[in-house]
Amino acid sequence: MLFQLTEEQLMIQQAARDFAQQELLPGVIERDEHQKFPAEQIKRLGELGFLGMMVSPQYGGSGLDTVSYVLAMEEISKVDASASVVMSVNNSLVCWGLETFANEEQKQKYLVPLAKGEIIGGFCLSEPEAGSDATSQRTTAIDMGDHYLLNGTKNWITNGGTASVFLVMAQTDVAKGHKGINCLIVEKGMEGFTVGPKENKLGIRGSDTHSLMFQDVKVPKANRIGEDGFGFKFAMKTLTGGRIGIAAQALGIASGAYELALKYSKQRKAFGTEICNHQAIQFKLADMATEIEAARLLCLKAAWEKDNKMDYNQSSSMAKLFASEVAMKTTVEAVQVHGGYGFVKEFHVERLMRDAKITQIYEGTSEVQRIVIARSILQ
Ligand code: CAA
Repeated sequence: MLFQLTEEQLMIQQAARDFAQQELLPGVIERDEHQKFPAEQIKRLGELGFLGMMVSPQYGGSGLDTVSYVLAMEEISKVDASASVVMSVNNSLVCWGLETFANEEQKQKYLVPLAKGEIIGGFCLSEPEAGSDATSQRTTAIDMGDHYLLNGTKNWITNGGTASVFLVMAQTDVAKGHKGINCLIVEKGMEGFTVGPKENKLGIRGSDTHSLMFQDVKVPKANRIGEDGFGFKFAMKTLTGGRIGIAAQALGIASGAYELALKYSKQRKAFGTEICNHQAIQFKLADMATEIEAARLLCLKAAWEKDNKMDYNQSSSMAKLFASEVAMKTTVEAVQVHGGYGFVKEFHVERLMRDAKITQIYEGTSEVQRIVIARSILQ
């Protein structure tokens, strides 16, 4: 077993690190405070190929592997998890879903601009009454011959106000349960489609989260992904890869907080010495470093399995579950290492602590990940 990154992977990691330090760090506190979407930075991420990282160059992407994606997600998330969630949804949920399951016409029309970062996309599964219990979709897509009539509400949609294209799960045939769900490609300008107000969130405040309302929206049949009734499987398969991206985001939030705590502990003096010389702080740093390394290995293993066309259902949930718990624990400890300074915005760790929480909730709560893992080990 070779624990070594390739030259190309190291280059991507460095490029993401440089971008995060030079272009995301300035202004990240203000964007969080004012809930300002990092529009310019996302545009730059697109120009640098970070929004369609795993998409083949044939469709405007960078043609990189999932390991590179994990490395980049970690670096971006160390500094700005609001930017990295945009990157994650666009790469893992929207671009991957389209490249893997859409037809050629759909790929040319939607995937190419999404992969180039000319537009961004959103993924719409959650509803007011369907979060973890994702088969209970209330949004309906009635078959009208050449089009579907879409009605319903989607909740907590990342990129809700900024995306141009949405992959929307909707129930076409209630009697068929999850086998009656379809995934439709919905464009923002379609008549009857409205965007609700931006959510005022605890964390990832720079990201753009909205409810979306569909009232008699006519969606052409040509915009359905896959066979009739494929929508739920599409969502599950897509989320399985998405969980690797969110695991890497959690990893980045944890390692960002750890690096800040380590640096601070070497500067801050108490009881006549730098606080890193006190065992109370050393034990915290040792635990953080160990758990982060374990989370990183889980993320890379899941990514490697995906790249090698293996079954990564269990490993992606394990990575997401563990990394998000590590993110929460590490960021709380990083605030503690900083003492009173950790509680104020200038030191960044309080923001990372708030951002960490969402990684235990979206793309499947920690409880959902445990369901997936338990089913996998018991089957
Ligand atoms: N890959 C392929 N197929 C899958 C699958 C997977 N990973 N998981 C389930 N399926 C299939 C099953 O095989 C089954 O198909 P058959 O009936 O043909 O056998 C079908 O899907 C239904 O599966 P289950 O019976 O297992 O469904 P369930 O109701 O018991 O739910 C669940 C399983 C894991 C809890 C699922 O509902 C789930 O993942 N819920 C969480 C949803 C979620 O992650 N939402 C996140 C929203 S998106 C988001 O957060 C994006 C963002 O903005 C950041």
